[in-house]
Amino acid sequence: MDIQGKTKVLGIIGWPVAHSLSPLMQNAACAALGLDCVYVPFPVPPENLAEAVDGLRALGVAGFNVTIPHKEAIIGLLDDLSEEARLIGAVNTVSRDGDRLTGHNTDVTGFTKSLQDDLKFDIKGSRVLLLGAGGAARAALVGLCQAGAAAVTVANRTPAKGKRLIADFSPVFTGANLAQCTLDVLKDDCRLKDVDLLVNTTAVGLNGTAFDDIDLAPMAPTARVYDMVYNPALTPLLAEAQKHSLLSANGAGMLAAQGEAAFTIWTARKPPNGLMKSRLLAALGGQDMLDNDVYSK
Ligand code: ATR
Repeated sequence: MDIQGKTKVLGIIGWPVAHSLSPLMQNAACAALGLDCVYVPFPVPPENLAEAVDGLRALGVAGFNVTIPHKEAIIGLLDDLSEEARLIGAVNTVSRDGDRLTGHNTDVTGFTKSLQDDLKFDIKGSRVLLLGAGGAARAALVGLCQAGAAAVTVANRTPAKGKRLIADFSPVFTGANLAQCTLDVLKDDCRLKDVDLLVNTTAVGLNGTAFDDIDLAPMAPTARVYDMVYNPALTPLLAEAQKHSLLSANGAGMLAAQGEAAFTIWTARKPPNGLMKSRLLAALGGQDMLDNDVYSK
């Protein structure tokens, strides 16, 4: 990559940010399209967020991604918000028009595109069980309701958080039947039987964790299972789905698709089909091998 005087700078702010796979995906897309852009990771501790955003403005950075822990805190530092970002209360992409910074949330289209591409799932009229009630669940719920889901039940460990989420969105999405319950729903055969799509938005599945005694046998054979966790690629939830021959996918497709949507916001160009996902999967494969190496020592 030849960086020159006119090269546009894109980037990502987060804390930590060193683990992010976005630089790999975004720089691959810039190179494939021959764009004079470079995408840089910026580690920004929480106490420096306001100064960092001022700095990004002052330096003329053309656009940037936002990751943990800044997705909510950045809102007050921006000039405008997209409809999705406002509804979710979180921003993962910032675009720039002159001096104005606009916050977007491309997790929404990332999620719905991955459901379509990876699971061939038709959201319209569907009944969905969403595990978790954090930022990722909010993005999923907005995507599902905007695409015409008939019913979304939010199951969360802490019921108060699930209730709040439903209270926030019931007045907005009046066409969908929204409800909440606890994770005990996973042990309720009658309720599992009526679900078209089960989505995990929680951190369960990371670091060897799993839902207790999960049994997806009652789910209909046409039901799909989506786990937003993508490392490990086969979480215990996905292994259980495979055991019952249910079509399933991990969150790698969503990560790639949210990156594609951000790239298009900044450049008005579409990355080559499948490029970001293949770079991501190659990197995750490499990471797995590295982890195994560490284990074997
Ligand atoms: P994100 O932005 O990724 O959604 P978050 O806003 O911190 O992250 O939300 C994390 C979600 O995962 C929450 O719904 C959380 O449940 P609580 O509201 O009860 O905290 C859920 N979660 C995290 N660890 C969990 C665990 N071990 N078991 C069940 N749910 C868990």
